[in-house]
Amino acid sequence: MKKGIKDFIKLKKKGDPLAWVTAYDYPFSYCAEQAGIDMILVGDSGGMVQLGYETTNPVSMSEMLTMAKAVRKGAPDTFIIGDMPQGSYEISTNLAVENALRFVKEAGCDAIKCEGGRRIADKVKAIVDAGILVCGHLGLTPQSTSSFGGYKVQGKSIISFENILKDALGLQEAGVFAVLLEAMPAESSEQISKHLTIPVYGIGAGPYVDGQLLIMHDILGLYQPFRPKFAECFIPEIILEYCTYLDSIKDVHSMGVETRRDGLLVLVQLTLEIYIRKVKNKTFPREEHVYQLSEKALSKLQNSEYWIR
Ligand code: KIV
Repeated sequence: MKKGIKDFIKLKKKGDPLAWVTAYDYPFSYCAEQAGIDMILVGDSGGMVQLGYETTNPVSMSEMLTMAKAVRKGAPDTFIIGDMPQGSYEISTNLAVENALRFVKEAGCDAIKCEGGRRIADKVKAIVDAGILVCGHLGLTPQSTSSFGGYKVQGKSIISFENILKDALGLQEAGVFAVLLEAMPAESSEQISKHLTIPVYGIGAGPYVDGQLLIMHDILGLYQPFRPKFAECFIPEIILEYCTYLDSIKDVHSMGVETRRDGLLVLVQLTLEIYIRKVKNKTFPREEHVYQLSEKALSKLQNSEYWIR
């Protein structure tokens, strides 16, 4: 059965982490749903990992909609978030609402995500007022990496931490159902999580948040140019089990033409099952996936008037 925000809040209250993954097409979203994923993000990262762009900036609304429609077909019973590409929400509240509605009406998404805090709070509020669920995205926001001077970990200094916290509170006030934090030290994201009442999820934000997101292509080792510290490819852990399974199939034709389970689909599903299991039993992320603060940097951060002990 499809999960929704009530389920996500229940998970948060119980302290059970939620597992989500990106997907951009029919077969991979099918595998994610079969594996039991809680939620799928049709990220604009699809522009890089699927379409081969160098950044997410060139991604258009029509490319996002094509990907989102395919994902919905592959995962009819999963909560799907459509990622608003750069230029689709910043210019005016009307444009933001119009494009958010396209994700819901044309692609069947359950929610949308956009990058930024207080500077886009009016757009977020307008989308929420139109009856659409919104997930915030703070920390390292790839659409504006040039303003950070590249892909840099965020929330390490007092100024950066307090800005992200104020942005997160601004988004909560504007009505988002959750906030995603990207590439932040675990202690900073834990603090943001303590200040908010809504779920706080992380991608490269350490273990003290309400759930983990990873890029599908990082989990499968499918993207060559770059793999961030927080990502893990789970294929090596499953490949033996997969080969044993293949060996156990005596005659693939006996499975029936329509139900043959002898290919990549099974491997991807098994790999995603490991990722989900590790998020749920809190063995992912491990220390090596987490951005560390020096003792000096941490004690400076703890001087923030917003630091909860
Ligand atoms: O586009 C995407 O996949 C994202 C994640 C990096 C958070 O926004």
